[in-house]
Amino acid sequence: MSGGGTIDFEIRPSSQPVSATEREALLANPGFGRVFTDHMVTIRYAEGKGWYDARVEARAPIPMDPATAVLHYAQEIFEGLKAYHRADGSVGLFRPDANARRFAQSAQRMAMAPLPEDLFVGSVRELVNIDRAWIPTSTEGSLYLRPFQYASEVFLGVRPAREYLYCVIASPVGPYFAGGLKPVSIWISDEYTRAAPGGTGAAKCGGNYAASLLAQSQAADNGCDQVIFLDAAERKYVDELGGMNVFFVRADGSMFTPELNGSILPGITRDSVMTLAREQGRHVEERPVSIDEWRDGARSGEIVETFACGTAAVLTPIGTVRGVEGEFKLGDGGTGPVTAALRETLVGIQFGRVPDPHNWTTTL
Ligand code: PLP
Ligand code: COI
Repeated sequence: MSGGGTIDFEIRPSSQPVSATEREALLANPGFGRVFTDHMVTIRYAEGKGWYDARVEARAPIPMDPATAVLHYAQEIFEGLKAYHRADGSVGLFRPDANARRFAQSAQRMAMAPLPEDLFVGSVRELVNIDRAWIPTSTEGSLYLRPFQYASEVFLGVRPAREYLYCVIASPVGPYFAGGLKPVSIWISDEYTRAAPGGTGAAKCGGNYAASLLAQSQAADNGCDQVIFLDAAERKYVDELGGMNVFFVRADGSMFTPELNGSILPGITRDSVMTLAREQGRHVEERPVSIDEWRDGARSGEIVETFACGTAAVLTPIGTVRGVEGEFKLGDGGTGPVTAALRETLVGIQFGRVPDPHNWTTTL
């Protein structure tokens, strides 16, 4: 047993862990989300009983009755955060308390039982601890952690479930984009939106990602890496990408980003970038950003950089933007200096290479 929050975890180490040789081979080039560690965490919830049966156990398929509620009504939420190998041999986590808070907020929006935040952080620490050997030691590598929760009650009535399963899995990863830090191209979705006012855009629920996939396929059909969504009411303002927030940099070094309007995911990278940029003396605005302002600003030279940001993508420069009305480029289509400098600072904090005055990182 091990204390990982408000309840104790039963630790059942895998009897068949991957051999060290095979693990090293997998870690040489893990890609994103293809390779998984030996263990997982599971915690169950039942109405009237609360959270119980917290376990660290061998990663394995989860048997499911075909009438399990999540398969029908998609009551599911998830998180994404990373564990970083540090030069001194310790392991760093970046703002896990913020992920815990957002997870509880997502649960609230999806009418699910919220997991206590200390149990979330404790569960993540337990998994990282037992699967420590899976953390890549390469400069850009990390262990991506995926906590998620779904309606596990076997019931077809349409109402909030009374039973949930919370689970954490881990995946050693390299860069999210195959090209590394190359600028990506973006397709403006004029046909589909991701989130409507009053909808679930601010929650990290699986359904939002399902809703983004057709637009993402259209982006690929148009030769673009990612899709950007406009607001559902007017199709005039930029919301975010399918899995990243977006920032704009002016020629005078000031920055702006779409405000949290209820349809945008409140990114932890977004929040961190705003803090770091302000500390660098930059003016940062959160406000509506129209697609016309972006296009006209890029063409006139007033907007010199645009980048996407998120846990998986870190900071990724946007080089080209394409839509039904044509195409425009940001700067010379390369990686701008502001994007590069902010990325360097953020990654430096995450890996413990530069001071962390906000105590964003915690180690184990
Ligand atoms: N927006 C969406 C839709 C996302 O899926 C993510 C990724 O988690 C983000 C933004 C960025 O959030 P964060 O920086 O917390 O990873
Ligand atoms: C993340 O950055 O953690 C995401 O969730 C983006 C994507 C992998 C869904």
